Amino acid sequence: MSGKKYDFTVFIVSLVMFFSVGAFGQQIGNGGSNISCVNCHKTLGGELAKPVAEWTGSIHQQNGITCPMCHGGNPSGTTMDTAMSKAAGFIGAPHGQAQFDACGKCHPTEAAGFANSIMGKAYLEGKGGPSCAKCHGPHHNEIPVGTKICESCHKDTTGFDTVDPMNVTKSTVDKLSKLVIKTKEDKIKGQRPSVVPHVSEDLDPYKIGLIAFGAASFVFILGYILYLILEKRD
Ligand code: HEC
Ligand code: HEC
Ligand code: HEC
Ligand code: HEC
Ligand code: HEC
Repeated sequence: MSGKKYDFTVFIVSLVMFFSVGAFGQQIGNGGSNISCVNCHKTLGGELAKPVAEWTGSIHQQNGITCPMCHGGNPSGTTMDTAMSKAAGFIGAPHGQAQFDACGKCHPTEAAGFANSIMGKAYLEGKGGPSCAKCHGPHHNEIPVGTKICESCHKDTTGFDTVDPMNVTKSTVDKLSKLVIKTKEDKIKGQRPSVVPHVSEDLDPYKIGLIAFGAASFVFILGYILYLILEKRD
């Protein structure tokens, strides 16, 4: 009799273990997609659902970095009041120092380095510098490629491919201004050989042909007039 009871306990315990391992596996396997923040926000549409779509498949989602790790809050609370409560540490959309702190929890070296750089200071002091999210995206965080993102604020990006945008300092500025001056000098030097008449770079072969044709016609007409004058003399 007691043997049967024991079997039943083992059965129940196994059942519980089976399901909790299953649920745990799912949590890991889907990068934490099965939390209240995701489940509610993905149904909201528009700007409130966009973060879920962008975050899904991102390097953070793949590494199990979920919404509350940046925003705070309680991922088990199923209502707005319980999930997004100040008591549970919810900070909303982080801007300014709050954003540096949120990212800095896991990327302290990058956050501290950027905060001390010319651009990081320009951001924190409200002087138009870029936030982390400006360059890396708010939810599909990636390393920006090329200087396209820089061009949204900078007109002259000469040498920008040689600088570390996370650590722009006084010495970066000095290095760049030398580079800018050198580039300008090279351009002037490049235009110097003036034995051959300088042809503007934006002339295409068609226009060059047209000018050549015009010049040839002019010489021909001049020669013809000369011929007429000389012939009359005879
Ligand atoms: C039951 C639905 C629901 C749940 C659960 C929920 N949210 Fe929200 N969330 C909303 C709605 C609706 C808004 C927009 C209204 C508002 O800001 O009060 C919002 C707004 C936000 C904002 C923008 C706030 C701002 O300052 O612009 C963030 C960030 C956010 N939620 C993160 C989270 C996180 C993180 C969790 C999980 C811990 C979570 N949400 C859970 C419904 C939900
Ligand atoms: C790696 C950190 C990080 C994670 C993870 C993250 N967020 Fe955000 N979220 C941010 C930052 C930073 C902003 C502010 C972006 C800005 O204004 O440029 C933001 C802004 C928001 C906003 C305000 C609207 C907007 O797009 O600016 C909502 C809503 C939001 N997040 C919801 C979520 C939800 C839901 C999740 C989980 C699927 C999530 N976030 C995961 C960092 C994060
Ligand atoms: C809870 C920890 C955590 C937080 C908070 C966090 N990250 Fe990450 N981040 C990671 C992990 C883990 C990785 C992937 C492993 C790695 O490359 O370090 C990563 C990778 C990255 C990468 C590299 C992407 C690539 O393609 O190599 C960038 C950029 C990044 N995070 C930016 C941010 C920004 C910006 C914020 C704040 C809005 C932020 N992270 C907040 C943990 C975090
Ligand atoms: C002006 C654009 C820009 C801004 C603003 C910016 N980053 Fe970056 N970040 C980059 C670029 C470009 C790289 C890749 C080159 C490098 O490693 O320095 C990078 C690299 C990273 C990496 C990956 C480092 C590695 O070795 O894999 C992390 C993490 C990161 N940034 C986090 C942040 C955080 C956090 C902030 C805000 C405090 C921030 N970034 C602000 C452009 C930016
Ligand atoms: C959101 C706007 C913004 C973006 C995007 C941005 N910057 Fe800047 N950058 C600034 C501001 C503001 C300053 C500070 C200007 C000052 O104080 O003179 C600055 C300063 C600099 C400087 C110092 C020298 C100079 O030209 O003023 C360098 C170098 C620089 N940024 C490189 C980059 C690079 C590289 C990128 C792209 C990866 C980039 N920036 C993206 C706004 C931006």
